[in-house]
Amino acid sequence: MMKVVAMEVLSLLFVVVAFMYFRTGEAEANTFAINCGANGSVNVEGRRWVGDLAPDSNITVTSGIVAYDSNFIGDSTYAPLYSTARIFTDTLNYTFKGAQGNSFVRLHFDPISFLNYNLNNSLFSIVANGLKLVSRFNVHGEILLKSTYLQKSGGNSSSFVLIKEYFLNVDIDILVLEFIPDKGSFGFINAIEIAPVVDSMFVNSVNKVGGNGANSSLNLSKRGMETMYRLNVGGSEIKPFEDELWRMWGLDSGYMVTADAGSEIKNSSTITYSSTNESAVAPLLVYETARAMSNTEVLEKRFNMSWKFQVDPEFEYLIRLHFCELEFDKANQRIFRIYINNQTAADNFDVFVQTGGKNRGFYQDYLDVVSPKINTLWIQLGPDTAAGAAGTDALLNGLEIFKLSKNGNLAHIESYGQTKDNKNSESLIIWAGIVAGIASIAILGALLLFIFCFCKRKRNNKLGDAKNSSPGWRPLFLVHSAVKAKGSLGSQNRNGSLSTARVGRIFTLAEIKGATNNFDDSLVIGVGGFGKVFKGEMEDGTLVAIKRANPLSEQGLTEFETEIEMLSRLRHRHLVSMIGFCDEESEMILVYEYMANGTLRSHLFGTDLPPLTWKKRLEVCIGAARGLHYLHTGSEQGIIHRDVKTTNILLDEDFVAKMADFGLSKTGPALEHTHVSTAVKGSFGYLDPEYFRRQQLTEKSDIYSFGVVLFEIVCARAVINPSLPKDQINLAEWAMRWQRQRSLETIIDPQLKGKYCPESVKRFGEIAEKCLADEGKCRPTMGEVLWHLEYVLQIHEAWLLANSGENSSRRQGLEETETEVQEAES
Ligand SMILES: *[C@@H]1O[C@H](CO)[C@@H](O)[C@H](O)[C@H]1NC(C)=O
Ligand SMILES: *[C@@H]1O[C@H](CO)[C@@H](O)[C@H](O)[C@H]1NC(C)=O
Ligand SMILES: *[C@@H]1O[C@H](CO)[C@@H](O)[C@H](O)[C@H]1NC(C)=O
Ligand SMILES: *[C@@H]1O[C@H](CO)[C@@H](O)[C@H](O)[C@H]1NC(C)=O
Ligand SMILES: *[C@@H]1O[C@H](CO)[C@@H](O)[C@H](O)[C@H]1NC(C)=O
Ligand SMILES: *[C@@H]1O[C@H](CO)[C@@H](O)[C@H](O)[C@H]1NC(C)=O
Ligand SMILES: *[C@@H]1O[C@H](CO)[C@@H](O)[C@H](O)[C@H]1NC(C)=O
Ligand SMILES: *[C@@H]1O[C@H](CO)[C@@H](O)[C@H](O)[C@H]1NC(C)=O
Ligand SMILES: *[C@@H]1O[C@H](CO)[C@@H](O)[C@H](O)[C@H]1NC(C)=O
Ligand SMILES: *[C@@H]1O[C@H](CO)[C@@H](O)[C@H](O)[C@H]1NC(C)=O
Ligand SMILES: *[C@@H]1O[C@H](CO)[C@@H](O)[C@H](O)[C@H]1NC(C)=O
Repeated sequence: MMKVVAMEVLSLLFVVVAFMYFRTGEAEANTFAINCGANGSVNVEGRRWVGDLAPDSNITVTSGIVAYDSNFIGDSTYAPLYSTARIFTDTLNYTFKGAQGNSFVRLHFDPISFLNYNLNNSLFSIVANGLKLVSRFNVHGEILLKSTYLQKSGGNSSSFVLIKEYFLNVDIDILVLEFIPDKGSFGFINAIEIAPVVDSMFVNSVNKVGGNGANSSLNLSKRGMETMYRLNVGGSEIKPFEDELWRMWGLDSGYMVTADAGSEIKNSSTITYSSTNESAVAPLLVYETARAMSNTEVLEKRFNMSWKFQVDPEFEYLIRLHFCELEFDKANQRIFRIYINNQTAADNFDVFVQTGGKNRGFYQDYLDVVSPKINTLWIQLGPDTAAGAAGTDALLNGLEIFKLSKNGNLAHIESYGQTKDNKNSESLIIWAGIVAGIASIAILGALLLFIFCFCKRKRNNKLGDAKNSSPGWRPLFLVHSAVKAKGSLGSQNRNGSLSTARVGRIFTLAEIKGATNNFDDSLVIGVGGFGKVFKGEMEDGTLVAIKRANPLSEQGLTEFETEIEMLSRLRHRHLVSMIGFCDEESEMILVYEYMANGTLRSHLFGTDLPPLTWKKRLEVCIGAARGLHYLHTGSEQGIIHRDVKTTNILLDEDFVAKMADFGLSKTGPALEHTHVSTAVKGSFGYLDPEYFRRQQLTEKSDIYSFGVVLFEIVCARAVINPSLPKDQINLAEWAMRWQRQRSLETIIDPQLKGKYCPESVKRFGEIAEKCLADEGKCRPTMGEVLWHLEYVLQIHEAWLLANSGENSSRRQGLEETETEVQEAES
């Protein structure tokens, strides 16, 4: 601890000393720390950040909108840095003079709120001296995906900052960071830092994985790298101010395939670098802690310590492993093999021999090419018994993974649909897609008038010159017209009974106002991005849920139209039915059947409602699965829900589960070729990583989210809980670690203890695990999930029957068990 404090005080000195030491004889590169959109300078984490409104002479900024969020939510320590940003709708250049040499460039993104700019929807590219860093980049999507591993901008708030780090070799005196918004979109940036790096940082020879010990040297001239992962293995997080290059070292436990395989070891006395050049390579803190193979009380350790990482396929990766023998003071005690993506990267590896002693830190670099279609990188360390070591053990202290640029590009190859044929503005393509299934040329004629009115209403909707789509086609009008043409709905049907209206009823605004007591706030039963949901009572006494979209929200309009279109086509016992809608006076109001028991989430945690029994939970899962199964297979194209979560599973008065909220839904495979998403949709903690990476929406993304729902149901906790320790924040990752060890029962909702059949929970966990498979194609279909869940319910019911006798004499909460048994018997 003393050490940490000392480092904090001295770190600034170290930087100065290090640079003076390593940069003699060369033009000295400047260090930059820029607070974008700010005037004057601020001190954050022991560094001075210069506002770019009053930059020094070595920095120029071309344009941009200066943004400030006065209601910044997050840690006040970071407020000076992250409450300001620069937003751009045209290309914005930051030019840094005196940047020649090697440096780490870090870009900070915190989607704050500012005027009408919803930074969650930004889409832009960044080019650094000709090297493409990101392409059609959506910060929100990346944050949704990586939320667990991001720096949180504040305590337990769910506001996250995304920091992207690059290693650049700048061969001229200036570095130009070009920020290019996508056509019709915009981008933003909160802070930029440039930290010069010693030239020897990456010149060492690298070992080619699978190359039988062949060395090659890494030539980074004209190439850049992106830091994908940087972990202090077996230790705690290392904060930027504890590292002379302001790097952040995260925890490794979240990436371990089986957390139990490795145990943490440490020795903080007298650690040294085995080569003098390495102080810039990693702080000593990295070498003070390690992970070694756990003692499993078996004679020989015949397993690997394995870490698994998500990466982009088709790039080369530099994997840097840091080692320091902390326990043994002689050779031949720990000899192991290193595997990278299942190929041997090194064998007969003895850290003591490599460094010539105990407590001496060093590193090794490996180069691996990740083949197409593979998006994971495995790093495994295991015993090399052939080598004749005294014990079987392995050790790792730190790990870094860098992605190497390929043909001047570091951006996802597949990111945001870069196929040649979608140069048109993506909103058009989405519209074309939504419309495709139902549109016909005949309708177009009838619509022209509507389109004209509509275009006037919709602000800022650039329609471009698309040739494969007609401007202004809106599903809402299509629904109206199609329906009217069929004569099954419309004004002539307005007084007809609800049950006979196949598609729904058009309500007048007066009717809606009557039912909700003129939108009385005391009747609000839910609030979301779209607006409010009211409980209403129609004249005939029917209870309904009335969803009134916020008329100002562009996104709301889209979702409103999608939802009407979807719901009017769908009828199923496990889907919330839409009774009708109202679009008078530019209102967007949907009327649904009333679901007396609210959201599934409210019955799991965070409220005073009595806990659901395991049997009820299984029934709810089965109901929701039936609804989704119908969505996926019920229509010719199939429909993807896109936002499966426990707040979108509603329960009626008999606790029958129904899927709700089709605002984000998309029709299936017919869109596959043309579909491009402007921004990743979905919810924190439920988002399918494969969907995000590949931008291809399939029903397997719903399966992933449903798997997260299953874990949420069994653990009864939030899918993202930022107040928990880092490795527990994300439920999907945390629960999967326990599930892989076949001990999901350890983290089961305490309210269920003793009231469930262990076998049923075991099977349930297996289903959830399959749903969360990395690759969509390995996940089951909804039909398979449904089948398995029904089987799990049978097992549990049988157990309830068999245990009813003992239980009633032995346990409290017996009424519950007994009623369940009765239900099961009947
Ligand atoms: C920045 O601050 C200086 C001095 O406080 C002031 O003169 C200048 O007008 C400010 N610039 C902007 C853009 O606010
Ligand atoms: C930004 O920099 C690039 C590359 O140096 C240059 O081509 C472009 O014209 C610059 N744009 C602006 C707006 O200055
Ligand atoms: C600007 O860069 C030059 C060298 O490139 C350096 O000597 C000078 O100190 C820098 N100015 C500031 C204000 O950092
Ligand atoms: C951006 O996304 C985050 C996380 O999904 C959400 O909490 C926030 O409200 C969104 N901001 C806006 C302006 O929609
Ligand atoms: C965490 O959240 C709780 C309530 O949600 C709040 O009372 C508390 O102040 C928060 N703590 C921090 C550090 O933000
Ligand atoms: C690779 O380089 C190391 C030193 O960096 C050397 O000890 C080793 O013999 C080399 N291996 C081969 C196969 O050239
Ligand atoms: C690295 O590659 C560049 C060309 O890309 C070449 O000019 C340079 O000599 C190479 N450096 C080394 C050390 O091989
Ligand atoms: C740490 O290493 C030093 C030097 O080898 C040794 O004296 C000490 O016992 C070690 N401490 C632990 C806890 O292993
Ligand atoms: C240490 O750094 C110096 C200067 O940067 C370089 O010449 C030397 O080769 C480096 N030594 C090792 C072992 O990397
Ligand atoms: C360790 O992993 C490698 C690569 O996946 C595998 O070939 C090897 O059999 C594993 N070793 C053990 C003991 O499981
Ligand atoms: C590597 O091995 C693991 C199991 O040890 C397996 O799950 C994974 O699919 C393998 N990866 C490749 C690329 O073969």
